[in-house]
Amino acid sequence: MSRYPFPSFPRGWFALALSHELGEAAVLTVRALGKEIVLFRGEDGKANALSAHCPHLGAHLGKGGCVQGGTIRCAFHGMRFDGRGECVEIPGGAKIPPAMRTPAWELREIDGAILAWHDPAGAPPSFEPPSYFAMRGTEGWTDMSWHTWPKLHAHPQETSENSVDLAHFPAVHGYSAVDIVEPIELDGDTLRIAYSMKRGLDNVGMPGQTVQSIFKVRVHGLGYSVVEVTVPTFNTEFRTYVLCTPIDEDTVILRGGGTMRAMPDPNMTAMISKLFFQGFVQDVEQDFQIWENKAYFERPVLAANDGPIGAYRKWCRRFYDEPRAEAAE
Ligand code: FES
Ligand SMILES: [Fe+2]
Repeated sequence: MSRYPFPSFPRGWFALALSHELGEAAVLTVRALGKEIVLFRGEDGKANALSAHCPHLGAHLGKGGCVQGGTIRCAFHGMRFDGRGECVEIPGGAKIPPAMRTPAWELREIDGAILAWHDPAGAPPSFEPPSYFAMRGTEGWTDMSWHTWPKLHAHPQETSENSVDLAHFPAVHGYSAVDIVEPIELDGDTLRIAYSMKRGLDNVGMPGQTVQSIFKVRVHGLGYSVVEVTVPTFNTEFRTYVLCTPIDEDTVILRGGGTMRAMPDPNMTAMISKLFFQGFVQDVEQDFQIWENKAYFERPVLAANDGPIGAYRKWCRRFYDEPRAEAAE
């Protein structure tokens, strides 16, 4: 039985891999959204994702399949499939039956990640995952750092709920003076909220001191969240990404990314960005024992300083085509 009163695979954009994991003309097998998926990068540089088993006689395209141009060639009988899953060649020149096609995922490769669109009913994307590289530029920002946690007992709705769960920041992460700067805004498939918090500087060699940070949180569906962090005292700016992809009914893979606006001194930039990313990874890991062991209460008893958890949960329902009746609050 599922731990959660909502489906395991919400509608939205979910990371299948990081860009650097899928090299030129590479083939990669991943398990996500309850499916076995084969990714390949065509010689044209474009990433593609197909259902793993060849529609001909079922060979696994990720086992011996190879890239040819913008297509993948199955190792079993050599048929080739393009990124839309259409067979484009049968060796020997036999006519291609119209049914010789395999399910393909709509992908967006942005900000160093390969995101796939998932809709339980197979509908096309209802929103686009915004690229912060495109919006903010990459000039003057450090290369992305990434950390992957391959297996966690959780659900994307639960991990994203952290974004609005203000009372957990002091208890789990040791932040203080949590204040909402911009109230929650639900804009279609995007949730925005901003808060300021104080963080201890023990891990940067300044024990007992705190610094105020402002967190602008943007949740683009349940698989793709971005937080823009500014620390006015140090005139620094960071951006973190949390990509949560359900693998099966009760397991997710989590990927965390970070970049920092470069400072005039490159050594300083290298040092601070490393410390910041370490702190971010540590923050994420502090949530694990909570996520992996908590129960989901449909009618939690809330306190005044909890943050907009009710509004968040209501908003989440839009990502399930068939919300179960008992999920209503
Ligand atoms: S099983 Fe793939 S070409 Fe035959
Ligand atoms: Fe957290």
